Amino acid sequence: MMNAIALLGNSMMRPSKCILRAITRLSPSRDTAFQSHPSPFSSCVNQNINTPYLNRINKPTNAVPFCTDRPSSVTAQAVSEARSLSASTTCAKDTALNQIIAKNGVNVKPLNVEGLKGEKKGEEVINGDEKIIDREGIKRNEIEEEAWRLLRQSVVTYCDSPVGTMAANDPTDTTPLNYDQVFIRDFIPSALAFLMKGESEIVRNFLLHTLQLQSWEKTVDCYSPGQGLMPASFKVRTLPLEESKFEEVLDPDFGESAIGRVAPVDSAKNSVTVDPRIDSHSTVGLNRKISGLWWIILLRAYGKITGDYSLQERVDVQTGIKMIANLCLADGFDMFPTLLVTDGSCMIDRRMGIHGHPLEIQALFYSALRSSREMLTVNESSKNLARTISNRLSAISFHIRENYWVDKTKINEIYRYKTEEYSTDATNKFNIYPDQVSPWLMDWIPESPRCGFLVGNLQPAHMDFRFFTLGNIWSIVSSLATPRQNQAILNLIEEKWDDLIGHMPLKICYPALESSEWHIITGSDPKNTPWSYHNGGSWPTLLWQFTLACIKMGRPELAEKAVTLAEKRLQADKWPEYYDTRDGKFIGKKSRLYQTWTIAGFLTSKQLLRNPEMASSLFWEEDLELLETCVCVLSNSGRKRCSRAAAKSQILI
Ligand code: GLC
Repeated sequence: MMNAIALLGNSMMRPSKCILRAITRLSPSRDTAFQSHPSPFSSCVNQNINTPYLNRINKPTNAVPFCTDRPSSVTAQAVSEARSLSASTTCAKDTALNQIIAKNGVNVKPLNVEGLKGEKKGEEVINGDEKIIDREGIKRNEIEEEAWRLLRQSVVTYCDSPVGTMAANDPTDTTPLNYDQVFIRDFIPSALAFLMKGESEIVRNFLLHTLQLQSWEKTVDCYSPGQGLMPASFKVRTLPLEESKFEEVLDPDFGESAIGRVAPVDSAKNSVTVDPRIDSHSTVGLNRKISGLWWIILLRAYGKITGDYSLQERVDVQTGIKMIANLCLADGFDMFPTLLVTDGSCMIDRRMGIHGHPLEIQALFYSALRSSREMLTVNESSKNLARTISNRLSAISFHIRENYWVDKTKINEIYRYKTEEYSTDATNKFNIYPDQVSPWLMDWIPESPRCGFLVGNLQPAHMDFRFFTLGNIWSIVSSLATPRQNQAILNLIEEKWDDLIGHMPLKICYPALESSEWHIITGSDPKNTPWSYHNGGSWPTLLWQFTLACIKMGRPELAEKAVTLAEKRLQADKWPEYYDTRDGKFIGKKSRLYQTWTIAGFLTSKQLLRNPEMASSLFWEEDLELLETCVCVLSNSGRKRCSRAAAKSQILI
């Protein structure tokens, strides 16, 4: 507790003028000006480091002066609380992580889970041969064995404890850029694969370390973004100390622009930072915000799968949830309940014309709010936030179900829309011009009313009719869409199998932007050429999310079919990041090999299909209470029509 108080005191004393970038504060001995301030990096000292990760480690580059106009005293009490409780400057085998005080003041009992080192567990000797048999006694096939081996090789350790997996681990790749970092979003399938295997230590460490990174003050070009942001990725760096000693530090990537300054940037990877036409600062911030959404979703999954709810009950973890929720729920200039973001703010982290209210973000936002609602300890200080979360959930689902949904009938309606209506009961509320209904869509949309999908984006006079797979799948998983809509999305995928699955599941979006659209919308991005990468490429990592959606909707056979297809090629092709061409026949032009979320996505799909009961820990059912709230808000005549029955009949279920 004394430590906590000391850290709190230090954080309050932080200078508010120019500060050196965090990397210069790694070693107090070299930067005495900051000696008294807690480092944003956890660090530990090692005598002999002999890990495969070492050869990936970059030395920190020269200090770059950065400024902040945020007075340190404005730091909210909650932030100080999190900081003081969760920060550690030396790792001392993670004692800091284990001793953080839980909500009732009792130390959290460390989990007793099968550790990563217990790899031999579950192995059996059959006929003199060592065959790997998992808990259920099912023999893993050779491809799965390789996938597990690769996944374990991608594990990043910090102070001898596993903390995440690097994005790609191709030993022959001499320019990994930032693919050697632990991306928060990329780690999710790895985390689920480990959790479902009973190996929760890595996930717990990841959740707690990234939480620490969240609460630190950070600056991007003299601008301090809001508290509650998470880095898009982090890296464990090893710094030499005197003699043969080393210090390990966690280095979060809080600003892609910084990467651009300290190392030559392959514009193909980091065009968001080198392309002056793009507002890279906003993109940076939003990437972090989205990482925060995944963090909350993973925290819920951790509790559900391990049964260890003490982690989410800890004071620091509760504070983390609140900070992310507050940040996302903050009032802006917007008229919509959905989250307003700039381009490249999600899995598609480059310019692809998805600024505004893209579906993927809304589905993740909705899932994160549902997770927060379940996990938030409601008391006097959090009851308002809990109410705000519930109201926002109702509003988002109503808005998406009502306005993003299209099927053949709805498209025909839009095609015949009147425009320029000025009234509160306009049919064409967003003033969508019928010419936006492009010929590809009219050809593509199935005749059957049993097929439909949620459009990619919606804002005034703009409806992006492209099919974005992750947003649609995650709407099913989170019950953002209605049960009928959920089935209709899967029907559409089945009906359009050749377009959306083809040779490799799954297309990130359909169709690709071509010709002048590609020039104007992507800024002539050479990596996002038609049917490549984010612009209509095929991403095997999406397999696990598809599997989850299929299991939820009682259609595992659809997922089986997709997994079987992927299984035929992934190993032979060296687990690529993405595939190119209309039907996903070619390994992507600039695709990384041994991409971890491809490997982990495949493993997670396999595990889910084998243990469908696990899937129910990861999705959300329809929540009538949320629908009821919406009916009440919509109803002008007060409580009379506020009932679940009314909700059932009125809110598109
Ligand atoms: C690419 C993807 C992004 C992913 C990153 C690391 O930038 O677009 O979604 O997180 O690579 O794999």
